[in-house]
Amino acid sequence: MTLQERCPIIEFRDLGDERGKLVVIEGNKTIPFEIKRVFYIYGSDPDVVRGQHANRDSEFVLINVAGTSKVRITDGNEEFIASLDRPMIGVYIPKMVWKDMYDFSSDSVLLVLASTHYDGKEYIRDYEEYLREVKK
Ligand code: TYD
Repeated sequence: MTLQERCPIIEFRDLGDERGKLVVIEGNKTIPFEIKRVFYIYGSDPDVVRGQHANRDSEFVLINVAGTSKVRITDGNEEFIASLDRPMIGVYIPKMVWKDMYDFSSDSVLLVLASTHYDGKEYIRDYEEYLREVKK
């Protein structure tokens, strides 16, 4: 499987009508895990790079519910860039994949759904260490 196949862009259904848009995300249905944690990132300047880590145990779905950003995703071998430019799409990030979020628009609200409660110890924040672990 290619990295891009492992990290698909998920298109959510639009349940909107003349009253406006509605997007619903259900754990283990719309996305491939049960949601244990939700956080969102906003107010990041366009020249900021966030993320810069891989997670040993967590899976994520990233959605720009407002504005736009980009996610550079790599497994140390392949790389691709997900452009989060609509509230209707999210990118799935499995365990042990390195990600950088950047190019935040001034109105960007990046919603992150996670499969775990927060545990700083499962984060790998050193890229060389990541490469060593992922190549094992
Ligand atoms: P960090 O992982 O650097 O954010 P990003 O992935 O956006 O670059 O997190 C910033 C700080 O917030 C860091 O001290 C850890 C803390 N934090 C939590 O306590 N819980 C969480 O769920 C997250 C994502 C971060």
